[in-house]
Amino acid sequence: MISRELGVGELAERAGVAVSTLHFYEAKGLIHSVRTSGNQRRYARSVLRRIAVIKVAQRVGLPLAEIARALDALPSGRTPTVADWRRLSAAWKQELEDRIKTLTQLRDQLDGCIGCGCLSLKACPLRNADDGLARQGAGPHFT
Ligand code: FES
Repeated sequence: MISRELGVGELAERAGVAVSTLHFYEAKGLIHSVRTSGNQRRYARSVLRRIAVIKVAQRVGLPLAEIARALDALPSGRTPTVADWRRLSAAWKQELEDRIKTLTQLRDQLDGCIGCGCLSLKACPLRNADDGLARQGAGPHFT
């Protein structure tokens, strides 16, 4: 009989992540497991694709909260289809377009600030460009 579920070690190996990463993703609600009678975690094979999506999303700089929100929108009770994943990536495409636009503006504004260094709250577009970054929430935006 072929098992349809994976143990944590097997999932980590197949997904190319550390076991601690799986525990972190699970604690953040990005992936889910069921427990055996011996209290061991078991994951559906579909979690492999979910982890791949999480890794790609992290690589392009999407915050975990955004990734979790998008994954929550996937249908529960069945493995997501290609159409489901396409809807998810389409939503992220707009998010990435917005980020590219913001970064392009910052790059262009930086040209004018090189050699200046005033960082004036009133005059410097980097310091206070309509407080555009504030709309993305508090804390660092470029890691
Ligand atoms: S650092 Fe002076 S205008 Fe930006």
